[in-house]
This record gives sequence, structure tokens and C-alpha cells, in this order.
Amino acid sequence: MDKLRIEGGNRLNGEIRISGAKNSALPILSATLLADGVMRVGNLPHLHDITTMLELLGCMGVEVAIDEDMSVETDCANIKSCVAPYDLVRTMRASILVLGPLLARYGEAEVSLPGGCAIGSRPVDLHIRGMEALGAEVDVEDGYIKARVPGGRLTGANIFFDTVTVTGTENVMMAAALAKGTTTIENAAREPEVVDLANCLNAMGAKISGAGSDTMVIEGVEKLYGCSFDVLPDRIETGTYLVAAAVTGGRVKTKDTDPVIMEAVLHKLEEAGADITIGDNWIELDMHGKRPKAVNVKTAPHPAFPTDMQAQFMVLNALAEGTGTVIETVFENRFMHAQELVRMGADIAVEGNTAIVTGKEKLQAAPVMATDLRASASLVIAALMAEGATDVNRIYHIDRGYECIEEKFQQLGANIRRISG
Ligand code: EPZ
Repeated sequence: MDKLRIEGGNRLNGEIRISGAKNSALPILSATLLADGVMRVGNLPHLHDITTMLELLGCMGVEVAIDEDMSVETDCANIKSCVAPYDLVRTMRASILVLGPLLARYGEAEVSLPGGCAIGSRPVDLHIRGMEALGAEVDVEDGYIKARVPGGRLTGANIFFDTVTVTGTENVMMAAALAKGTTTIENAAREPEVVDLANCLNAMGAKISGAGSDTMVIEGVEKLYGCSFDVLPDRIETGTYLVAAAVTGGRVKTKDTDPVIMEAVLHKLEEAGADITIGDNWIELDMHGKRPKAVNVKTAPHPAFPTDMQAQFMVLNALAEGTGTVIETVFENRFMHAQELVRMGADIAVEGNTAIVTGKEKLQAAPVMATDLRASASLVIAALMAEGATDVNRIYHIDRGYECIEEKFQQLGANIRRISG
């Protein structure tokens, strides 16, 4: 297995381009199953998860053409299967996102249960209840969700999510778009990626209003058509590089990104002492060589502080002046990086869903292991400020969500290289 070797001590300086958002690309690629006609999706990040989603669509019989600029054209005219098999779903839980489109367009779906992952049990009960509310009959057997639509067409319903779920909201949006009648989603997820999906579905002919608020109204239509759509920039990739700049006291400009969708993160970085300047599609962070100050973060659904930035800010606090608390309220087991950071000399005390972090000027290099996508990126950031060479193992987690991570960090002056194992 590949690993990343990082020699600490270099201050980051320079500018990089931000890729398209993985968590917008995955639901939008699933939504192409709804289109009668050719869909073009652009600004796709070159990531393993995107390849897996394209492989999943392909195994159903969707024609997929990939351009050299990583935009994709799909055509579902000759779809032959409504099954999302275990061997693909187990590598990418977001495969659950094909459930809604398959039921809406083809009246049937057989999707392997994604199973848990490192950060939590990750149930899909809210997805299933959403489909049943829209009139689907769902059985869960042999590790698969087996669903069908009596009468062939879903019917609009009023749906209330008692827990805010991003992909649960997205699945219901896609299913309701072709249902007969109107669907209301209350306590909907408000993430920018949910808004991006709504914009794409509306460009295909859907009638969705209220995206970005906690109440969405979807008027079902008879048919959705192909369109051309570019996914929005990745706010978590942006935040990850800005935190890396902050911990090294450096100055980094992220281009082709969107400052409007990352207010909570930018406010926290300013609280940590960073100088932030923004333009329409760029964000620059300058620490003027200073060490960051510790901050308190508490994760919650958008527009609050994102759980996908929690690990990165734990590293910031581990290297900051003072003590900061990190409270994780979205997932039940998203502190695995804490123990790896402690092995690098960090001072972190975990009590339940709260981590109390007292900063140090430097960490110590150590072989560490990536566990989930964002935890892996935080270990790379920690290694940038560790004395000696740190090996981050199991970086397949990173390759799922960060395009060309070593090239982008090298571009900023980091001493980092991939060692094939
Ligand atoms: C999405 O996951 C993202 N993934 C995650 O990003 C992100 O961390 C998460 O939203 C929260 O923002 C994609 O968009 C592909 P949820 P999702 O459903 O939709 C519980 C990354 O690093 N829940 O919003 O799976 C669940 O257990 C990934 O890019 C149920 O109980 O998350 C959790 O506690 C990691 N039943 C809470 O809701 C359900 O049916 C929020 O989960 C569904 C969810």
C-alpha cells in the first residue's frame, strides 16, 4: 500500500487550484440516472470515489464517456440493471445515492447496504423511510435494500427528517423530482452540495424550491432532460489547505473556490489569528509567520462548523498557542486521529465527544495510520510541523477525497512524496 513521507519544517507559501467538490459530484452523477438524454457533468475531481461512481453507473448499463478535462457525459438510454452490487458499494457508501433515482425513473432498485465505516455506524434508515413515504415498498434482506414502486410511479409526500442527513435529503430530492404530486422536506440538510444538486436538477427540468433552507418543496414532473452542469468547488479541500498554511505560519492563496460557502471555517481561521482576504473565486490566508491561537470548535449541520473540518482544526489546536476544545456532534466515532496525533507528541485529552487540546510549538515525526478521509489529511498537516520524517500509511483514504494531494502540497513548498508500497 502507498504511503506519504513528509519531512516537517517548511513554511507553506504559494497558490493552488481547488478541485470540484466530491460531495457534490457524487449526488449529481447519481442524478444523471434521471435524465432522458445526454448529461454532461464538469469540474469533476480526479478521485477514486468518482471513478467508483462511474464504474457503478457503467455496471448498470449507463454509457459513460470521460473527457480529458475530467468532465463526463452519460446516457441512460440502454440501462440494463437496477442493482448496485456489494463489491462496489462496500468501497464507497455514497453508492446509496442511486436508490432514489432508480426508484423514481425505473420503479425498482436493489442496493447493497453500505455498512458502517470508521467514523460511525452510518445507518441508512432515514433514506429507506424517505423512499417508503414516497410510496416505495422496501425490504432489507441478504445485505441488500430491495425496493419497488407499486404502480410504477412514486407519489409526493410530506417528509420530516428527525436527524439532518445530507445524502438522505439528496436521495429524497432525486426521488421526489419525478414523483406524482408535491413533496415537502422538513428539517432538510442545508449544505452547499445539497443546493448544488437542486440547481442541477432544476437545470434538468425539476421544480425544486427552498434548497439551502430547512424546508424544501419539490413539485414532481413527468420527465427530466439532459443538461450541462459544472459541480461547485470543494469547500473542505479549500479549508484543509488553509489550515495547513495556518499551522506553518505561511501564506497560501486558494483559487477556483467559493468563499461564500465556507463562512464558519473562515471565521474560525480569523479567530485563530489568520489574515484572510477574499475575491469572487479565491481566498488568501496569511499568518505573517505567526503561530495560530487555539480556538473552540463544535461541529453541526451547515451553516454551522462542518464535521469534515473537525480533524484539521484538532491539528491546528495541537500546534496553537493555548488550549482549545473540539466537540463532535454529528458522528459518534470521529476522533480516531486524536490517538495518532498523541503518538506524534500532541497533548489531547478525549472525554466522550469532546477533545481538549493544548498546543505545542512542534510535534514529533512518527509512523501514523490514516483511518478516514479527513483524519488522513489532518495527519499530513500535522507532519508538516513535526521534527523529522513522518510516514502516513493507508493513504487510499486520502486518494478517495483529495486530488493530487502531494503535488498540491509540493507546489506550496512542502517536503512530501508518495512511496509506493
Ligand atoms: C455526508 O455524509 C458527507 N458525504 C460526509 O462527508 C459528511 O461528513 C456528512 O454528510 C455530514 O456532513 C457525502 O456527502 C458523500 P449524514 P452522510 O447522513 O450523508 C445519521 C467526507 O469526508 N444518519 O448527514 O452519510 C448519521 O449516522 C464524508 O467527505 C442516520 O441516523 O451523512 C450521522 O450521525 C464523510 N440515519 C448523521 O445522521 C440515516 O439514514 C448525519 O449523517 C442517515 C444518517
